[in-house]
Amino acid sequence: MTDTLTIRRPDDWHLHLRDDAMLSLVAPFTAERFGRAIVMPNLVPPVTTVAAAKAYRQRILEAVGDAGPFEPLMTAYLTDTIDPEEVARGHEEGVFMACKLYPAGATTNSDAGVTDIRNIDPVLAQMAALGMPLLVHGEVVDADIDIFDREKVFLERVLAPTLERFPDLKVVLEHITTADSVEFVQAGGERLAATVTAHHLRIDRNDILVGGIKPHMYCLPVAKRARHKEALREAVASGSPKLFLGTDSAPHARPAKESGCGCAGIFSAPVGIESYAQTFDELGCLEKLEGFASLHGPRFYGLAPNEGTITLERAPFEVPARIDPEGQDLTPFHAGERLGWRLAR
Ligand code: NCD
Ligand code: ZN
Repeated sequence: MTDTLTIRRPDDWHLHLRDDAMLSLVAPFTAERFGRAIVMPNLVPPVTTVAAAKAYRQRILEAVGDAGPFEPLMTAYLTDTIDPEEVARGHEEGVFMACKLYPAGATTNSDAGVTDIRNIDPVLAQMAALGMPLLVHGEVVDADIDIFDREKVFLERVLAPTLERFPDLKVVLEHITTADSVEFVQAGGERLAATVTAHHLRIDRNDILVGGIKPHMYCLPVAKRARHKEALREAVASGSPKLFLGTDSAPHARPAKESGCGCAGIFSAPVGIESYAQTFDELGCLEKLEGFASLHGPRFYGLAPNEGTITLERAPFEVPARIDPEGQDLTPFHAGERLGWRLAR
């Protein structure tokens, strides 16, 4: 039985760091584990300019302090009216690594998002020419579509036609939750990949709803039936280079989660690699963790893997039930549970 596992320092290809005091609290959890992260731009107001992204990157580096080495990779928040020139300039200056598509109204702080993907055709053409990846929140928001079908319908109505119209555009379908998305991504060419969260590999909709409503298990896209979770587990266990790690760690203060209208988002940064290790161990494919966490993402983005390594050890890891209860008041994924893998210090 493997008791320690040393892998290239991993990256988190989908992360919410927030701002201000929340940023200061959560950034070190990520920086202790990951070499880089794709930082989501859904602040209030969203990150839509090069200047805003540069300033945010600086605030992140200050929040990380000496918890790193850690490099934030910044993204631009696409709106109906974003200037393609601003996106191109941000890419050329090495500030914008990618652009994020939030269908307007799909999730937290997405009100300024895109109302119809055809509105951003000029930006997509620009991105395809630059080799700049489009990161997609893949859910439709049509009122007549059941929330559990939003991802599947997005594939048919939005993603497939967009890929057809822009054959050179690189696309990451973020935080996939369905067998349909697994199939879709596997069937797509090399320019299409997906991130998989730690929680979607472990929870299904029963975990949210059976025995009482569990607000800390609620995120978007919402976890689906067990068979979809199984499809995700099988897909990562296959070692597919088209799938890589993206925690979608999305902290919200406990009162905002435990509410009559609770926020979507699971805060997984404190268990950001340990939870995946547990899952890969259960699946009997620990040897596939390094590819998923540390190699497939950089290859897709055209970056070198990180230089350093991290070591995980098979030892009990007691996940705190609450983090900073008197301050930001967060409940992490796996709160109060004992995991079987921890980061060796
Ligand atoms: C994210 C957030 O809170 O910013 N929430 C979530 O449930 N994942 C937004 C997102 O990625 O959808
Ligand atoms: Zn997210």
